[in-house]
Amino acid sequence: MGDVDPAFIQDTLHRPKLAVIEAEGIPLIDLSSANASNHVSQIADACKNWGFFQVINHGVPSESRRKIEDAARKFFALPLEEKRKVSRDEVNPLGYFDTEHTKNVRDWKEVFDCVVPTPAFIPASPDPDDKELNELTNQWPQYPPELREVCEEYAREMEKLAFKLLGLISLSLGLPENRFNLLFEESTNFIRLNHYPPCPVPHLALGLGRHKDSRALTILAQDDVGGLEVKRKTNGEWVRVKPTPDAYIINVGDIIQVWSNDTYESVEHRVTVNSERERFSIPFFISPGHHIWVKPLEELTKGEKPKYRAYNWGKFFATRRRMYPMASEGRQANPVKHFVLVHGSCHGAWSWYKIVALLKSSGHKVTALDLAASGINPKQVGDLRSISEYFQPLRDFMESLPADERVVLVGHSLGGLAISQAMEKFPEKVSVAVFVTASMPGPTLNISTLNQESLRRQGPLLDSQFTHDNGPNNPPTTFSFGPLFLSLNVYQLSPTEDLALGTVLMRPVRLFSEEDMSNELMLSKKYASVKRVFIISEEDKLGKKDFQLWMIEKNPPDAVKEIKGSDHMVMMSKPKELWVHLQAIAEKYS
Ligand code: OGA
Ligand code: NI
Repeated sequence: MGDVDPAFIQDTLHRPKLAVIEAEGIPLIDLSSANASNHVSQIADACKNWGFFQVINHGVPSESRRKIEDAARKFFALPLEEKRKVSRDEVNPLGYFDTEHTKNVRDWKEVFDCVVPTPAFIPASPDPDDKELNELTNQWPQYPPELREVCEEYAREMEKLAFKLLGLISLSLGLPENRFNLLFEESTNFIRLNHYPPCPVPHLALGLGRHKDSRALTILAQDDVGGLEVKRKTNGEWVRVKPTPDAYIINVGDIIQVWSNDTYESVEHRVTVNSERERFSIPFFISPGHHIWVKPLEELTKGEKPKYRAYNWGKFFATRRRMYPMASEGRQANPVKHFVLVHGSCHGAWSWYKIVALLKSSGHKVTALDLAASGINPKQVGDLRSISEYFQPLRDFMESLPADERVVLVGHSLGGLAISQAMEKFPEKVSVAVFVTASMPGPTLNISTLNQESLRRQGPLLDSQFTHDNGPNNPPTTFSFGPLFLSLNVYQLSPTEDLALGTVLMRPVRLFSEEDMSNELMLSKKYASVKRVFIISEEDKLGKKDFQLWMIEKNPPDAVKEIKGSDHMVMMSKPKELWVHLQAIAEKYS
């Protein structure tokens, strides 16, 4: 393999096949007016069956395409130091970039991105309350000097073609031709210049890994080398899009998939490379304005369930940049997720109030549960005979879920035990379980060991109280946090209003016997088959960070995240951070 960086090497499953299947099937649509009567039905068929098509006689002057292609060649031929003078970085997403990764594997290519027309704006942060916008700034290289002008001219041509295509797509969905126009005011379209250099290991690497385009529509100019492959919807086979001189390749992006409520799907594609010839391509990505809420169009969902939650395009973009600062494409808009939130000891569903509001604001379904004798659950703590009764509300809820529904289970503190049991009993109904500074026993860490270790590390409980309902010579039966303990060790970094709320709403928790807990929490392969993420709370004084790390070491989860500056009540002290993590986790493991 010589000097090839292993970062480029694809998993065997995703390596390109050497025998290429040419996609004769990808429709070629002649946009000249002589054929106008057929355009709409041709586009409908192409979008449904392929998600991809090519157009000829599209009206874009070949001169403006030739000019941008020449400028791209000149730019990429510059020495690396020159190109790096206009590099993309954490602050500016535009410019030159040669270390793009798609799905964690490096792409064999270099790119140059610019937005046109300017000015273009995106939200400064993912925070829904933050209305601040940032202007996107292009970084133009010194050479070739005409790059800016040819990109601007090309973009004007692309926009004309884009509106023609959007009109046809709209008609093909049974909508008025101009249905989409308003949505593209203040759009954030951009041009990417792609250069795929010859590659010594074309059977191991890809120019661009499999991905879907996250915007509305892509108009791609490819040269005569070829390499773009599309995943055929009927059988999942990769088929090559044969270069057609002067044609444009059009594909539907995620936004049209959402608008059309899955009538048209955004289809996976990738780029293979070869050892002899470099390849150039120029996609033009069309996006709505940053203020647009993307959701299934009401005209198309009459009497049907919308398949996607609404998302704000600009905020989606900003969130993606925050979570994956250097990744550009290949992240999808996501269907509605169902989060099930389980509180810790002495708390209730109420403790999640901020997270409930935030997750709902991003369109998700949320269930915050009260375990037995917690929150407003009518049972009294003295009536609980076993931990099984304490967990009952969560089991009932899991039971009642439709067979095809999978939830994101989130447990805080002692709630980790309840979700562990749910994972063991209903593994097929959980897409991922999230332990937020929570108790996390497992097949390799039994509950007795976990309890002992937790006890061993416990500091003074101050004004907290135990009751001994079975007489003074028997183990204590309930526990409640004292106000002082709450303020110093549980809510010490949360707003004082939340401490006050907690102090008022706190109920005692039942203490269960070692034997009872061990019986109810026998965790096996079923538990282990569920994806699991632990969120460390950095300044937790109740279950300290070293204890959280100890559980992680004894029962390693699939991923570990950390929230800085939060106390035990992460959902009170750092709600937005927790919200961002929960969404990213849900997205990753669905
Ligand atoms: C892209 C893309 C294809 C190509 O940049 O999103 O799919 O042929 N490009 O370069
Ligand atoms: Ni693409």
